[in-house]
Amino acid sequence: MEAAEKEEISVKDEAVDKNIFRDCNRIAFYRRQKQWLSKKSTYQVLLDSVTTVEDSTRFQIINEASKVPLLAEIYGIEGNIFRLKINEESPLKPRYEVPDVLTSKPSTVRLIPSLGDTGSLILANEKGDLRCHITANPFKIDLVSEEEVVMSINSLGQLYFEHLQILHKQRTAKENEEEASVDTSQENQEDLGLWEEKFGKFVDIKANGPSSIGLDFSLHEFEHLYGIPQHAESHQLKNTGDGDAYRLYNLDVYGYQIHDKMGIYGSVPYLLAHKLGRTIGIFWLNASETLVEINTEPAVEYTLTQMGPVAAKQKVRSRTHVHWMSESGIIDVFLLTGPTPSDVFRQYSHLTGTQAMPPLFSLGYHQCRWNYEDEQDVKAVDAGFDEHDIPYDAMWLDIEHTEGKRYFTWDKKRFANPKKMQELLRSKKRKLVVISDPHIKIDPDYSVYVKAKDQGFFVRNQEGEDFEGVGKWNGDSYYIDIINVGGSTDILFLWNDMNEPSVFRGPEQTMQKNAIHHGNWEHRELHNIYGFYHQMATAEGLIQRSKGKERPFVLTRSFFAGSQKYGAVWTGDNTAEWSYLKISIPMLLTLSITGISFCGADIGGFIGNPETELLVRWYQAGAYQPFFRGHATMNTKRREPWLFGEEHTRLIREAIRERYGLLPYWYSLFYHAHVASQPVMRPLWVEFPNELKTFDMEDEYMLGSALLIHPVTEPKATIVDVFLPGSNEVWYDCKTFACWEGGCTVKIPVALDTIPVFQRGGSVVPIKTTIGKSTGWMTESSYGLRVALSTKGSSVGELYLDDGHSFQYLHQQQFLHRKFSFCSSVLINSSADQRGHYPSKCVVEQILVLGLRKEPSSVITHSSDGKDQPVAFMYCAKTSTLSLKNLSLNIATDWEVHII
Ligand code: NOJ
Repeated sequence: MEAAEKEEISVKDEAVDKNIFRDCNRIAFYRRQKQWLSKKSTYQVLLDSVTTVEDSTRFQIINEASKVPLLAEIYGIEGNIFRLKINEESPLKPRYEVPDVLTSKPSTVRLIPSLGDTGSLILANEKGDLRCHITANPFKIDLVSEEEVVMSINSLGQLYFEHLQILHKQRTAKENEEEASVDTSQENQEDLGLWEEKFGKFVDIKANGPSSIGLDFSLHEFEHLYGIPQHAESHQLKNTGDGDAYRLYNLDVYGYQIHDKMGIYGSVPYLLAHKLGRTIGIFWLNASETLVEINTEPAVEYTLTQMGPVAAKQKVRSRTHVHWMSESGIIDVFLLTGPTPSDVFRQYSHLTGTQAMPPLFSLGYHQCRWNYEDEQDVKAVDAGFDEHDIPYDAMWLDIEHTEGKRYFTWDKKRFANPKKMQELLRSKKRKLVVISDPHIKIDPDYSVYVKAKDQGFFVRNQEGEDFEGVGKWNGDSYYIDIINVGGSTDILFLWNDMNEPSVFRGPEQTMQKNAIHHGNWEHRELHNIYGFYHQMATAEGLIQRSKGKERPFVLTRSFFAGSQKYGAVWTGDNTAEWSYLKISIPMLLTLSITGISFCGADIGGFIGNPETELLVRWYQAGAYQPFFRGHATMNTKRREPWLFGEEHTRLIREAIRERYGLLPYWYSLFYHAHVASQPVMRPLWVEFPNELKTFDMEDEYMLGSALLIHPVTEPKATIVDVFLPGSNEVWYDCKTFACWEGGCTVKIPVALDTIPVFQRGGSVVPIKTTIGKSTGWMTESSYGLRVALSTKGSSVGELYLDDGHSFQYLHQQQFLHRKFSFCSSVLINSSADQRGHYPSKCVVEQILVLGLRKEPSSVITHSSDGKDQPVAFMYCAKTSTLSLKNLSLNIATDWEVHII
């Protein structure tokens, strides 16, 4: 009998039980580091050992107690980045260094060494404006930019490095005597989890013994930190208390709790810090379990002992300490020196790559459910969208479409003719996305299993046999060793789920840390990067399927730094409650600033049945989030958009149509993310880095630099308080065209059909004027331009356009990149990138100018062939808007519109 049948696996059983998961105090390497750090044992640089080898400066560091030499290497990396690596000088065996995340070997720049005051070394860039000051004893590095100490490393003395050892029992008496770095006495063995760590019924046997590492960073005058997804937490990182570190350990946490620092599906060990005038980043390249502690010390002013009549005062600047601890690997950390948020985004993507350019369809609306039952069901739901005039782009099939959860197969009864079903969707210019999990059912009649088994593609256990876990849905399974498989599929587009990896009845529902991967690496070393490889292999498989021609689309639940190169990420099993709608915003903002622009949350909430108002509000919010998919678990009521009465169908239709209308803007923003590393969804502080008030805002955000979105996330709301930043800015309500000066909070009345969206003065937003059944139906449809004037009466904007699916934009320069600028009452459409060519018959049909104070006497279009043509216009003095309709200005050619 199959395991899944032996034991009823019910969805309810999975509701988050925090006892299944460990908190810091139940993590042995955390306890060890805490205990050891309390002894305040210091490291010292051996200045005699400093050498310059190729592109790095190297030196030894020695701990006063253990005397084990560590080798430190410092690199200058192009684009104002420093890299610090610390490893054992001669480890018993190689320690894991994370491969495949950096897009290429980072190009280095020369650092010029010089001696500082006694006992210190200085490494400076060519210009001399960026320097590392290395103090020998105790070991400390100060990062200095233009005479300002931006960051200090190991100033709290939290450098920690467990060197690999011979198992206690196998050592000679002499070796045991010499061992002083950690307390290995028998009584302490269990508590410190050196060679063996228990958690409930699970025992983790550590063949390599303790191997954890740690280091502290003090960020001077920084009080606002962001990043290190994934947590269901606020956008601004909070201070951590005792035993309450942010955990980076990819786990399948069904219905995760919000406002919690426990690790959920993915990890990006990268944080950003921002203050007035500077943004910096720390990228800790380590794929083992990682904990991050954060502590801000506010600025203080001391009064020194009064010596004379006036008491002297001393100011201590505020700073935030960040303490990284990882279970294994080496210290490999990149310091991104900014100084602006865009510089930091560029620096990070220089290392890990930019957001993949998505196929256009994937920016439309996606309809998913666990599960659409059969081909008939799919057909009916698809028809429902047309019947109710609601656009959508992709139908999704969850695990039940397979033959007994054997991925890459079809249930023969329910999906007897999958090709025909796909043809139907294709005829509607829509797509199909199917799920594929990494657990492969053990079944000698299952071709995927047989192939993977024969080729040794499964993860192994300690005994060298294929690691057997229980796939949550399909019983006994082996796990594809993603780091050793190319991956290929016939099916259109893919959804990678359960790839933390989720192992039902495994420790914390995941894989034992001592399972063995290709290259003999323990799972412990690379746990957090498993999902990254799953998505990478899947995306590469899809590219191979089209012989390199077509862009893939792969949605993944688990991710790591650099996952942006392979597709989209969603926030997993959220709940149909208002609080989860609300938290989706900071969760997505955090993903966005750590490189992953293509992200979204299940619309409506995956678990439970949303009340109708919540569902409507969720569609409205989701329409303005990058990945837009409705999804629900089994046992929930059906919730296709037309099942809640005519009025609510209308509201959901409107929200989805707003999304489709804005697709030219979305696509252009994704192009910008792809080529220029700027996030699509941006926290306000990124666009307004000098406005303190924006630093902790997470109930509203910017979409690109032009639109400010403030989704309604409260039930029965009648008013929302919207902060419109920037004292020199002007903002326009996208529906009413009402206008406000920036730098104030305005009370916006909201009805159930209001989505508070504001366009920033000074921007031009391209839209589509007619909406089709899917993006495929809108290729030829006309454009509109929404020109919102700045206080100076000008604006700029862009449009990017290509075939929407292939790599020809890249290999054959088949794209159009247009620039719109409005200045001195003339709107100009010109090329933003002469390299690109793409024939398009599309025209700009409408132009709306917001904030035009004076009624024009005439409006004339001027085309590149020299022809002038007067056009009809409408001016509304009340809203100061000028509206031009029925234009026929080709999007691909240069032209001007003169307002006289
Ligand atoms: C868990 C995923 O998070 C969810 O979206 C999916 O529906 C179920 N697995 C079933 O595949």
